[in-house]
Amino acid sequence: MTTEIIPTLSSFDDDSLSNAFAALEQQATANAAALSGPEAVEAFRLEWLGRKQGRLNDVSSRWLKAAPPEAKKSLGQRFNALKQHVESLLEAAAGAGPSDAALAAEAIDITLPGTRRLTGAEHPITKTLNEIVSVFAALGYSVGVGPEVETDFYNFESMNFPPGHPARDTQDTLVVAAQERRSQRDRLLLRTHTSPVQMRTMEQQQPPVRIVIPGKVHRNDAADATHSPIFHQVEGLCVDTNITFSDLKGTLDHAMKALFGSSVKTRFFPSFFPFTEPSADVQISCIFCGGKGCRKCKQSGWIELLGCGMVDPAVFAFAQEKQPAYDPKKISGFAFGMGVERIAMMKYGISEIGQFYAGDMRFLGQFA
Ligand code: DAH
Repeated sequence: MTTEIIPTLSSFDDDSLSNAFAALEQQATANAAALSGPEAVEAFRLEWLGRKQGRLNDVSSRWLKAAPPEAKKSLGQRFNALKQHVESLLEAAAGAGPSDAALAAEAIDITLPGTRRLTGAEHPITKTLNEIVSVFAALGYSVGVGPEVETDFYNFESMNFPPGHPARDTQDTLVVAAQERRSQRDRLLLRTHTSPVQMRTMEQQQPPVRIVIPGKVHRNDAADATHSPIFHQVEGLCVDTNITFSDLKGTLDHAMKALFGSSVKTRFFPSFFPFTEPSADVQISCIFCGGKGCRKCKQSGWIELLGCGMVDPAVFAFAQEKQPAYDPKKISGFAFGMGVERIAMMKYGISEIGQFYAGDMRFLGQFA
């Protein structure tokens, strides 16, 4: 890299030597001024002082050796002066940090817009789910979870949907393929509701039980404005001695007021679920019109929000297989289940369920 830069000297008189060395000194000074950072300083050192290929080495091997004897002394003095000059440049560059030119290249224009760092925020589903859970946590409920890939037994049979029972048709089920050699109870499916965790909890834990179970559920439903094949539920289960329907009503009335505001009223409508008897649908007074009747509540003043009921003795009978303490003659309980998307859509006035899953920052950012 450097050999061409050292020209061959043809005359060795004082003027020629002065010019030749001055040119080199100028070059070294200019090079040193542009240095920025320790790597550049080291490259400068190698280029000028490197033992084998450095420029000074070239000067010595080309000029000094070629000089006639009478010019050697003067050439040697100039050579030493140049070497000292380069060494002092190097010392200054190594100690002084980046040169002015290097600093200018790195300078920041403080008038440019900054880099915006986005703050993370809870997804509205997570937020609503946590809110529901904390309402019940404040009542002394603990929180449980269960698997999303569930067996036929927990999802259906132990919840009192016997094989072939028509109530199974109400939950369009996604099943895991190639399970034919297993018995029906052991076949795997994607859980259609969080209710199977009721049984998993009772098998693990003697009464009393007060638990809420948030989680994801799956159904083979076509997606539309209010349906998604994957959605979320919060299940609740309370089992103890002397639990009555009034306890259920009082608990859910309190929970709805905590979630939607203290002016909300609740009413319980007869319904059917295989795992509760009696069963009810809970309706709340329309939060949009206050109960007067509007488009959202189809002029009825009421909005249906969740299912509930007293735990069916047949469910306790399954729990008793593992925990004899679930004797329906001694204990009783209630259960409830609610859809998180539906509650979030009501709370935040969202009309398309698909917005929750689209990952659009303009939508999600509103919940930050
Ligand atoms: N599992 C029901 C469903 O997905 C919801 C439900 C209704 C849960 C009543 C309950 C209950 O615990 O008591 O449609």
